[in-house]
Amino acid sequence: MNNFTFYNPTKLIFGKGQIDKITEEIPQYGKKVLLVYGGGSIKRNGLYDQVKEKLAEINAEVFELAGVEPNPRVTTARKGIEICKSEGIDFLLAVGGGSTIDCTKAIAAGAKSEHDIWDIVTKKVAAKDALPFGTILTLAATGSEMNAGSVITNWETNEKHGWGSPYSFPKFSILDPVNTFSVPRDQTIYGIVDMMSHVLEHYFHHVSNTPFQDRMCEGLLRTVMETAPKLLEDLESYEHRETILYCGTMALNGVVNMGYSGDWATHNLEHAVSAVHDIPHGGGLAIIFPNWMKYSLDENAGRFKQLAERVFDVSADGKSDREVALEGIEKLRAFWNNIGAPSTLADYEIKKDSVELMAEKTVIANASFGNFKKLTKEDSAAIFEASL
Ligand code: NZQ
Ligand code: ZN
Repeated sequence: MNNFTFYNPTKLIFGKGQIDKITEEIPQYGKKVLLVYGGGSIKRNGLYDQVKEKLAEINAEVFELAGVEPNPRVTTARKGIEICKSEGIDFLLAVGGGSTIDCTKAIAAGAKSEHDIWDIVTKKVAAKDALPFGTILTLAATGSEMNAGSVITNWETNEKHGWGSPYSFPKFSILDPVNTFSVPRDQTIYGIVDMMSHVLEHYFHHVSNTPFQDRMCEGLLRTVMETAPKLLEDLESYEHRETILYCGTMALNGVVNMGYSGDWATHNLEHAVSAVHDIPHGGGLAIIFPNWMKYSLDENAGRFKQLAERVFDVSADGKSDREVALEGIEKLRAFWNNIGAPSTLADYEIKKDSVELMAEKTVIANASFGNFKKLTKEDSAAIFEASL
């Protein structure tokens, strides 16, 4: 393992009916609350009314920013920052999926900065402070509810970047599986792919002696793979929503990857695709991840073999490491196909003429990327070609 410091100050409040806790949590930060949400799912499923009722109980003065887009835009974050500055907001409450939470993180940091939020997102300047914020998560996927990361899109320049700071951890996050019952089938699938991809990003590294971390990652993947088909048969199963919700948080809250950093090239590749084509993050990952794996296999085939044997039950008898590894990758692809995830860029009508531009977008921040295998723009283009 590498030396490490583990820091995660988010209070995780998990289970049925836990929304009541906002009446204990919010008052310590003040009265003026900016409620941030997406395109209306929380109004359709009744959560909005419940939240407003709880905020009324504590006599909060509520302001609202509605309409946060999937792949949230910097322009929307700027609107929220404007409200915070002009109204003197004390606390932000994000109610939604990763996009709403990521946008709230940007608003919280931007509200305490004299710089434009895009300069913070692109790391020209660092966030020095942020307004406090909490979340009520409605979609199991990103882990944003218990990490400091935020991914923001600039639609004018077709750029999508992740940023984070010690100030962008939620103060608390409320995770009630019931609030995820209404997530439609396709978004449920994208969330499953996303959380599995986070674990797979962790899994590919060159740091020695991570036996417990490996087992945690493998256990998480196996649990999600056992649960996902059952959940997709019964989208309102409390038990399966609960398992998936917990797994999504654990996949990206820093616990399973203490002592090493994973690869993260596939996320950079996907962010380039969705910056140009505005596709769902999980859909893009399902297409690209198996192709990244094949492309990177020779960095350390033993690592892929271990995954194939332990997670996909591939038998190694009489086979080379490479053969076992490739069989594991095919099984991952088959699993995602079977649950209904896309497998080629053509599924989103993305064609060869986009490859060059998307490849350029992968190297805006750095000329090369990926910790397990270093990739350049040419490598990106090759992986995109294989994904067409
Ligand atoms: O906008 P509304 O109307 O709320 O609808 C949303 C949206 O259309 C809907 N939805 C959410 N909860 C629902 C629901 N519909 C019915 N019932 C519910 N309970 O689902 C759609 C997608 O929501 P979104 O928040 O965009 O999805 P997700 O949570 O997958 O977030 C994706 C964003 O997070 C970024 C992605 O790049 C993408 O921009 N990521 C953030 C990370 C982080 N902060 O750590 C890491 C990830 O790797 C990822 O990059
Ligand atoms: Zn992701």
